[in-house]
Amino acid sequence: MYICLCHAVTDHDIRRAVVQGGARTMRDLRHQLGLCACCGRCGPEALEVLTKARNTLGARAVHIDLPPVAVDEPATARRSA
Ligand code: FES
Repeated sequence: MYICLCHAVTDHDIRRAVVQGGARTMRDLRHQLGLCACCGRCGPEALEVLTKARNTLGARAVHIDLPPVAVDEPATARRSA
C-alpha cells in the first residue's frame, strides 16, 4: 500500500528500511526514502507503519558485526618491542 504518494513509498519500503537500513526515526525514513519531504500528508501513517515495524521487525533484524580492521603497528613500535 502506498504511504507517500509524492515519492511512491510503500509500507513495504518502510519495513525494509527498518530491517535492512536500520531506520528508527522519521528522520531516518526521510533520509533513506524521501517520504514526508514534500507535502507531508504521509507523516502520520508513515509514523504508524514505522512504529509497528520498529516494535516487531526491528527487534528481529540481523545485526552484522564487521571483522576488526587490521592496523599495522608503526615501525617505531615494532623496533622497540
Ligand atoms: S505524500 Fe509524502 S510528501 Fe506528500
